[in-house]
Amino acid sequence: MPLPKAELHVHIEGTLEPELALALAARNGVELPYADTEELRKAYQFSDLQSFLHLYYELMAGLRTERDFEELADAYLARAAAQGVRHAEIFFDPQAHLARGVEMGTVVEGLWRALGRSEAAHGVSTQLIMCFLRDESAESAMRTLDAAKPYLDRIVGVGLDSAEVGHPPGKFREVYEAAAALGLRRVAHAGEEGPPAYISEALDVLGAERIDHGLSCMKDPALVERLVRERVPLTVCPLSNVRLRAVDILAQHPLPAMLDAGLLCTVNSDDPAYFGGYVDDNFHAVHETLGLSHERLRELARNSFLASFLEHDEERRARYLAEVEAYTFE
Ligand code: ADE
Ligand code: ZN
Repeated sequence: MPLPKAELHVHIEGTLEPELALALAARNGVELPYADTEELRKAYQFSDLQSFLHLYYELMAGLRTERDFEELADAYLARAAAQGVRHAEIFFDPQAHLARGVEMGTVVEGLWRALGRSEAAHGVSTQLIMCFLRDESAESAMRTLDAAKPYLDRIVGVGLDSAEVGHPPGKFREVYEAAAALGLRRVAHAGEEGPPAYISEALDVLGAERIDHGLSCMKDPALVERLVRERVPLTVCPLSNVRLRAVDILAQHPLPAMLDAGLLCTVNSDDPAYFGGYVDDNFHAVHETLGLSHERLRELARNSFLASFLEHDEERRARYLAEVEAYTFE
């Protein structure tokens, strides 16, 4: 049995496995420039975030109906459950679908068909976080927030993703203020490829409560000190960082140093269908390659529940935390 954990950084579109991507495209009559999965798999060589995003947005073309989004989420939740995930806070990218003529309702209702029965079907509690694409305009983000208003009972918060460098968080100040006024929680990708200043800006200007990735904080000791003092959670994604070349090899990943510095790190999969592993595969990798002890892994799992947006159900959080403490490693 894997260590119980929460997954706080997973893009539902990044769980689209090549087989499902091709099957959905075929079912919906969408042409993709890959004859079969063998040919498609050859495209999974990334040199940076942008080169990955190209394939990520391309393969989404097959996602068109509620049923497609339901199948996507259901497949992720089954895999997550097998990896010890007890609670998942799942990102989705509505602008990438709206741009293709797929409506907000189709995306949210489709995902909800799977999420709504996830506890019964998979033993995984879930929440949805709607991300804005930072390489699109602030006006587009605001229109997206407006389009989500009928579905706010299904969305716990907002996030910020896509191409980071050259797109600092500050541009989204108003939309984050509007989201906060609607009672939404706030997170943001920062410091994946971008500088430490983007992390500070996400905290100061957007009011981000968690930082997704946050790797580059290690270049700025004063920022590390602040993140430790304010107990800002970082959702670290080790296999993603290797595949997108934020670090050269896993053995050089700063996660051990981040934990030693006292940062509240969690380990997550990001886009597991693209990066060679789901969340427990990330846990195994940091154990094997970075030498993180079993007690460090327990700390990471504990942090995942401490950092999760479970304030509406502290009893549940306490139950999950007790499972982490009671876990015995094989
Ligand atoms: N969208 C999906 N995965 C992402 C990542 N790792 N960084 C930024 N945007 C993303
Ligand atoms: Zn991400």
